[in-house]
Amino acid sequence: MKRKEISPKDFVTRPFDIWLNKWFLLSCGDEDNFNVMTVAWGSFGGVWNKPFAQIFVRPTRHTFGFCSDFPHFTLCSFPKDFRNDLNILGSKSGRDCDKLSLTGLTVEKSKKVSSPSFKEADLVLECRKIYWGDLNSSNFLDKSIDECYPQKDFHRVFFGEIVHVESAENLPV
Ligand SMILES: Cc1cc2nc3c(=O)[nH]c(=O)nc-3n(C[C@H](O)[C@H](O)[C@H](O)COP(=O)(O)O)c2cc1C
Repeated sequence: MKRKEISPKDFVTRPFDIWLNKWFLLSCGDEDNFNVMTVAWGSFGGVWNKPFAQIFVRPTRHTFGFCSDFPHFTLCSFPKDFRNDLNILGSKSGRDCDKLSLTGLTVEKSKKVSSPSFKEADLVLECRKIYWGDLNSSNFLDKSIDECYPQKDFHRVFFGEIVHVESAENLPV
């Protein structure tokens, strides 16, 4: 996929649609040792005078250890044709199989971070971890939130400063 670099401040998207409907592939680790999983919960914003992406990772995910141990992560989104690949990567665990080999995705080196990106992505956000925290269920103010945690596996949130953005020219916003 042909992409061009854009400044994080020029990055335009429909945040609810891209997170909840289009999804991202989260990659954490480095070239030799990384894991990926599909994510649909997260946000973009500004904090501590930096543009950032926030991701939510349950401790039960194989990706969790990579996100906790490595300093970077990437978020890649893809054209519709790769929807089934995102379903595979969001339902199988890297703990049990080489799930990427079941998809048509091709790993590529990122520009500014150690975690890899994907050739087929139409949007790549490279992030440097700047904060993490575990959700505290005693602070849930809406009863429906508890229903998301029958196993009490409360997410860990990671904030990543967005240090590099690449977007396909024809990407619909
Ligand atoms: C559409 C979709 C969105 C998902 N979003 C998240 C998420 O935001 N956080 C999370 O912890 N798991 C999420 N998952 C579940 C993980 O992607 C899934 O459990 C995956 O198999 C974990 O892989 P791993 O064990 O290799 O890390 C999502 C799954 C799908 C299909």
